[in-house]
Amino acid sequence: MPTETDVRAEIERLRRELDEHNYRYHVLAQPIVSDVEYDRLFRRLQELEREHPEFADPNSPTQRVGAPVQTGFKSVTHSVPMLSLANSFDDAELRAWDARVHRQLGVEGDFTFTVEPKIDGLAVSLVYERGYLVRAATRGDGLSGEDVTANIRTIADIPWSLPPYAPDYLEVRGEVYMNKGDFEAMNAERAEAGESLFANPRNAAAGALRQLDPRITAKRPLKFWAYATLGLEGITTQYGALEATHRLGFPVYEGIRLVNGLDTVIDVYRSFGDRRGELPFEIDGVVIKLNSLADQERLGAVGREPRWAIAYKFPATQSTTRLLDIIVQVGRTGVLTPVAVLEPVEIGGVVVSRSTLHNEDEVLRKDLLIGDWVVVQRAGDVIPQIVKSIPERREGTERPFSMPEHCPVCGGATLRPEGLVARFCTNGLQCPAQLIEAIKHFGSRRGMDIEGLGIKVAEVLVEKGLVKDLADVYYLQRADLLALERFGEKSADNLLAALEQSKSQPLDRLIFALGIHEVGDQTAKLLAKTFRSLDRLAAATQVELQAIPTIGPSVSESIASFCAEPGNRTVLEKLKAAGVATELPGAADVPSEGPLVGKSFVFTGRMESMPRPDAEALVERMGATAQSSVTKKTTYLVAGEEAGSKLDKAKKLGVSVLTEAEFLALIGR
Ligand code: IVH
Repeated sequence: MPTETDVRAEIERLRRELDEHNYRYHVLAQPIVSDVEYDRLFRRLQELEREHPEFADPNSPTQRVGAPVQTGFKSVTHSVPMLSLANSFDDAELRAWDARVHRQLGVEGDFTFTVEPKIDGLAVSLVYERGYLVRAATRGDGLSGEDVTANIRTIADIPWSLPPYAPDYLEVRGEVYMNKGDFEAMNAERAEAGESLFANPRNAAAGALRQLDPRITAKRPLKFWAYATLGLEGITTQYGALEATHRLGFPVYEGIRLVNGLDTVIDVYRSFGDRRGELPFEIDGVVIKLNSLADQERLGAVGREPRWAIAYKFPATQSTTRLLDIIVQVGRTGVLTPVAVLEPVEIGGVVVSRSTLHNEDEVLRKDLLIGDWVVVQRAGDVIPQIVKSIPERREGTERPFSMPEHCPVCGGATLRPEGLVARFCTNGLQCPAQLIEAIKHFGSRRGMDIEGLGIKVAEVLVEKGLVKDLADVYYLQRADLLALERFGEKSADNLLAALEQSKSQPLDRLIFALGIHEVGDQTAKLLAKTFRSLDRLAAATQVELQAIPTIGPSVSESIASFCAEPGNRTVLEKLKAAGVATELPGAADVPSEGPLVGKSFVFTGRMESMPRPDAEALVERMGATAQSSVTKKTTYLVAGEEAGSKLDKAKKLGVSVLTEAEFLALIGR
């Protein structure tokens, strides 16, 4: 039996290791362990902390998932005001600033500057005392902001503790932001779920940071770049401060440049402008800072703006044009999306003629009538969007838009469920639009990965009536394909070969590819691991599904109703008949009937008859799952000798407890 001291030492070692891996993964982008290994360490720590609540620590890496709901935010006064920046919009304004700095400092010759991207997020201050994050606040009005410590703690980029050599007091300032890709994926998910959307990554980041429930913040993909640090010793330059901050474990953008003279500054500004679209995050200009901290101090600030720094903004990417029409598209889940058809207009070198309006509430919120003049913007470089209408320019011929009562593709009834902003076509896969999107999803990278089965091909196959359900793709004949304009001998053979190959994709990909509402690739992995065959999944009851940790009522209902639908049943049968692998290797040996099928076990304490891992493997072979911790979903806790806190927990939750003898009887030994 490990002693208290052993346990404590292991907990501390795991916390240190996990902090280190977090840092390597999120800050250095150089992980040294696999995700699986990381998860193993993480779960081990969770288990120990659960069994030993006396060693709980709010700074443990397991706590990043979020603290309890707060009732409001406290106000925090900043130790030193958080300044804003003066802006310049052309070279002349920038040169005038440089000349002013020369005059004020009374020196000639080139200055050294840092040129940093001006990240479009929101400024926060992070205070560390004796090496620990003690407070995080928003900028607010610059003098005081809101205490968002609990939310900031959920951002994986941000360290909770610093190396031993860090100064006793350290304040790191920087920008909390969201990557463009993460933002778009999040919005797409929200759109599919019928939730309201964020206009841009900045708003999304601000919304996430101001959540009263940190568990919600934890689910949003927030990141952090540091750009200023107070409390460093022996540092004389801004660039040196950035380097030191990075060494202390903070993310500092690696593309920040140290340059001499204004001409080079302008070159770097242009090059950021050119590469703006390739950066994973939004920037709206660059920030130019005098590198010497002594010079910065001599210059000071006027009002809220430092004299030693200036923003050089990129040209506006807005324009006005006519809203010619609003059409409605139908997505994979049947969600109806209004899309603006615009008189083509050039914005920042790109011609824009379409723009999504997301849902009917957005059309109302932006006060759009068909025929209106509208302001269109390419928000940095993400998808172009309509900012607002210009009602002053109305002529009286404009007409309002309303969402159709019938699906524009199949004519089926549409429905807007209570509490959602989205409207759906109720015709499921009978609706060709949904079928086309479903086929595309089926063949996608993370799905069955069928090269050549993209949206265009899916459209043709559905339009020509060759594919009426998902499984039909495996019944395509070479001659059918060759009869289509799109296909030559080679492309037809390639598609058929790709289809053939995809038949042996692992079960979790198949489950994901089916496109069951709310079943993402992670849930699909869990389902595959638990049920090991499609048949067994299809036969699972909602109770069995909910026995799986992380699967709640809404996901289980979605799976059960998918599997119960006769059309889907046929698809599953046809997939099997076509030779698609629907079982994990060895699944045939796992019974689909028997006393243990669908049950979940937790083992604790020492057993006489076999070691714990053997017992776990044994119940898995008999169709049950073995878990490491007791939840209300656990069917049996098997308590061996010296069972500890798991036994208490099981009793508290009313989980059935078996002695070793009772367990052996249950499995017939
Ligand atoms: S320095 C004097 N550096 O821009 C210090 N700010 O318009 C002022 N920002 O509130 C901040 N990237 O939210 C600085 N590399 C960067 C920045 C940056 C984005 C934001 C920050 C600030 C605002 C000022």
